[in-house]
Amino acid sequence: MFISKFSLLAAHAIKDLVKAPSSTWRTSYVPVIQNSYAQALRQKSFCTTAKKVSEEGSEEKQKVSVTFVDKDGEEIHVKVPFGMSMLEAAHENDVELEGACEGSLACSTCHVIVMDVDYYNKLEDPADEENDMSRLGCQIIAKPEIDGIRLALPVATRNFAVDGYKPKPH
Ligand code: FES
Repeated sequence: MFISKFSLLAAHAIKDLVKAPSSTWRTSYVPVIQNSYAQALRQKSFCTTAKKVSEEGSEEKQKVSVTFVDKDGEEIHVKVPFGMSMLEAAHENDVELEGACEGSLACSTCHVIVMDVDYYNKLEDPADEENDMSRLGCQIIAKPEIDGIRLALPVATRNFAVDGYKPKPH
Protein backbone atom coordinates (compact mmCIF):
# COMPACT_ATOMS: atom_id res chain seq x y z
CA MET A 1 0.00 0.00 0.00
CA PHE A 2 2.80 2.36 0.93
CA ILE A 3 4.66 1.56 -2.26
CA SER A 4 1.66 2.46 -4.43
CA LYS A 5 1.09 5.75 -2.53
CA PHE A 6 4.77 6.47 -2.78
CA SER A 7 4.79 5.75 -6.51
CA LEU A 8 1.77 7.98 -7.06
CA LEU A 9 3.40 10.81 -5.14
CA ALA A 10 6.63 10.36 -7.06
CA ALA A 11 4.77 10.40 -10.38
CA HIS A 12 3.07 13.68 -9.47
CA ALA A 13 6.37 15.12 -8.28
CA ILE A 14 8.14 14.24 -11.50
CA LYS A 15 5.28 15.60 -13.58
CA ASP A 16 5.30 18.89 -11.66
CA LEU A 17 9.07 19.00 -11.58
CA VAL A 18 9.19 19.25 -15.31
CA LYS A 19 7.05 22.41 -15.09
CA ALA A 20 8.36 23.90 -11.81
CA PRO A 21 11.60 25.76 -11.16
CA SER A 22 14.23 23.81 -9.19
CA SER A 23 13.65 25.76 -5.94
CA THR A 24 9.99 24.60 -5.89
CA TRP A 25 11.10 20.98 -6.17
CA ARG A 26 13.44 21.20 -3.21
CA THR A 27 11.01 23.02 -0.89
CA SER A 28 7.81 21.18 -1.86
CA TYR A 29 8.57 17.56 -2.64
CA VAL A 30 11.77 16.56 -0.93
CA PRO A 31 10.39 17.01 2.63
CA VAL A 32 7.18 15.15 1.73
CA ILE A 33 9.07 12.21 0.25
CA GLN A 34 11.50 12.14 3.16
CA ASN A 35 8.63 12.13 5.68
CA SER A 36 6.83 9.34 3.84
CA TYR A 37 10.00 7.29 3.68
CA ALA A 38 10.70 7.82 7.39
CA GLN A 39 7.11 6.86 8.27
CA ALA A 40 7.36 3.69 6.23
CA LEU A 41 10.56 2.76 7.98
CA ARG A 42 8.95 3.33 11.37
CA GLN A 43 6.00 1.14 10.41
CA LYS A 44 8.30 -1.41 8.75
CA SER A 45 5.75 -1.67 5.97
CA PHE A 46 8.09 -2.27 3.08
CA CYS A 47 7.79 -6.04 3.03
CA THR A 48 5.39 -7.92 5.27
CA THR A 49 6.04 -11.21 3.50
CA ALA A 50 9.64 -11.32 4.67
CA LYS A 51 8.48 -10.64 8.22
CA LYS A 52 5.96 -13.50 8.12
CA VAL A 53 8.52 -15.93 6.73
CA SER A 54 10.97 -14.83 9.41
CA GLU A 55 8.38 -15.33 12.18
CA GLU A 56 7.41 -18.74 10.86
CA GLY A 57 11.06 -19.69 10.65
CA SER A 58 11.68 -18.69 14.24
CA GLU A 59 8.52 -20.51 15.36
CA GLU A 60 9.80 -23.62 13.62
CA LYS A 61 13.09 -23.24 15.47
CA GLN A 62 11.17 -23.22 18.74
CA LYS A 63 10.17 -26.84 18.19
CA VAL A 64 11.97 -30.14 18.28
CA SER A 65 11.42 -33.16 16.08
CA VAL A 66 10.32 -36.22 17.97
CA THR A 67 9.63 -39.68 16.62
CA PHE A 68 7.39 -42.00 18.55
CA VAL A 69 7.75 -45.66 17.60
CA ASP A 70 4.70 -47.68 18.49
CA LYS A 71 4.58 -51.32 19.53
CA ASP A 72 4.22 -52.40 15.88
CA GLY A 73 7.32 -50.45 14.88
CA GLU A 74 5.35 -47.73 13.14
CA GLU A 75 6.97 -44.31 13.37
CA ILE A 76 5.00 -41.19 14.16
CA HIS A 77 6.91 -37.94 13.51
CA VAL A 78 5.80 -34.87 15.41
CA LYS A 79 7.05 -31.35 16.11
CA VAL A 80 6.99 -30.41 19.78
CA PRO A 81 7.26 -26.83 21.09
CA PHE A 82 9.96 -26.11 23.66
CA GLY A 83 8.68 -26.70 27.19
CA MET A 84 6.03 -29.25 26.24
CA SER A 85 6.29 -32.73 27.76
CA MET A 86 6.38 -35.82 25.58
CA LEU A 87 3.16 -36.94 27.24
CA GLU A 88 1.39 -33.77 26.13
CA ALA A 89 2.97 -34.05 22.68
CA ALA A 90 1.76 -37.63 22.34
CA HIS A 91 -1.77 -36.71 23.31
CA GLU A 92 -1.87 -33.71 20.98
CA ASN A 93 -0.84 -35.95 18.09
CA ASP A 94 -3.07 -38.94 18.85
CA VAL A 95 -0.11 -41.11 19.87
CA GLU A 96 -1.28 -43.87 22.16
CA LEU A 97 0.64 -43.10 25.32
CA GLU A 98 -1.15 -43.42 28.60
CA GLY A 99 -0.85 -40.81 31.29
CA ALA A 100 -3.21 -41.89 34.02
CA CYS A 101 -2.00 -39.35 36.59
CA GLU A 102 -1.73 -36.57 33.99
CA GLY A 103 1.93 -35.92 34.68
CA SER A 104 2.00 -35.90 38.47
CA LEU A 105 4.61 -38.71 38.63
CA ALA A 106 2.26 -41.13 40.33
CA CYS A 107 1.39 -43.78 37.75
CA SER A 108 4.27 -44.57 35.33
CA THR A 109 1.81 -45.35 32.55
CA CYS A 110 3.49 -42.73 30.40
CA HIS A 111 6.84 -44.48 30.25
CA VAL A 112 8.75 -44.51 27.00
CA ILE A 113 12.06 -45.99 25.99
CA VAL A 114 14.70 -43.61 24.70
CA MET A 115 16.07 -45.45 21.67
CA ASP A 116 19.45 -43.71 21.48
CA VAL A 117 21.83 -43.46 24.43
CA ASP A 118 23.19 -40.10 23.20
CA TYR A 119 19.75 -38.59 23.55
CA TYR A 120 19.23 -40.35 26.84
CA ASN A 121 22.33 -38.61 28.19
CA LYS A 122 20.95 -35.22 27.16
CA LEU A 123 17.91 -35.58 29.40
CA GLU A 124 17.68 -34.32 32.95
CA ASP A 125 18.57 -36.90 35.59
CA PRO A 126 15.73 -39.36 36.06
CA ALA A 127 13.53 -39.25 39.10
CA ASP A 128 13.71 -42.28 41.41
CA GLU A 129 10.64 -43.71 39.71
CA GLU A 130 12.47 -44.01 36.40
CA ASN A 131 15.17 -46.50 35.52
CA ASP A 132 17.26 -47.97 32.69
CA MET A 133 16.53 -46.38 29.32
CA SER A 134 12.92 -46.11 30.27
CA ARG A 135 11.77 -42.63 31.13
CA LEU A 136 8.46 -41.09 31.98
CA GLY A 137 7.02 -39.23 29.04
CA CYS A 138 5.55 -36.60 31.32
CA GLN A 139 9.04 -35.82 32.62
CA ILE A 140 10.79 -35.44 29.26
CA ILE A 141 10.47 -31.81 28.29
CA ALA A 142 11.16 -30.55 24.78
CA LYS A 143 14.39 -28.57 24.54
CA PRO A 144 16.86 -27.97 21.70
CA GLU A 145 19.26 -30.72 22.82
CA ILE A 146 16.73 -33.48 22.21
CA ASP A 147 15.81 -32.47 18.67
CA GLY A 148 15.51 -35.74 16.72
CA ILE A 149 14.89 -37.97 19.74
CA ARG A 150 13.21 -41.31 19.13
CA LEU A 151 10.93 -42.73 21.78
CA ALA A 152 9.62 -46.27 21.72
CA LEU A 153 6.23 -46.88 23.24
CA PRO A 154 6.05 -49.95 25.48
CA VAL A 155 3.96 -52.96 24.54
CA ALA A 156 2.18 -52.73 27.88
CA THR A 157 2.15 -50.37 30.80
CA ARG A 158 1.63 -50.81 34.49
CA ASN A 159 -0.13 -48.25 36.58
CA PHE A 160 1.75 -48.04 39.87
CA ALA A 161 -0.98 -45.93 41.34
CA VAL A 162 -3.68 -48.59 41.00
CA ASP A 163 -1.88 -51.95 40.51
CA GLY A 164 -0.49 -52.01 44.03
CA TYR A 165 3.04 -52.48 42.74
CA LYS A 166 5.71 -51.03 44.99
CA PRO A 167 9.05 -50.39 43.31
CA LYS A 168 12.15 -51.68 45.14
CA PRO A 169 14.48 -48.98 46.40
CA HIS A 170 17.79 -48.78 44.51
FE1 FES B 1 1.72 -40.53 35.43
FE2 FES B 1 3.67 -39.63 33.88
S1 FES B 1 1.55 -39.49 33.56
S2 FES B 1 3.82 -40.63 35.79
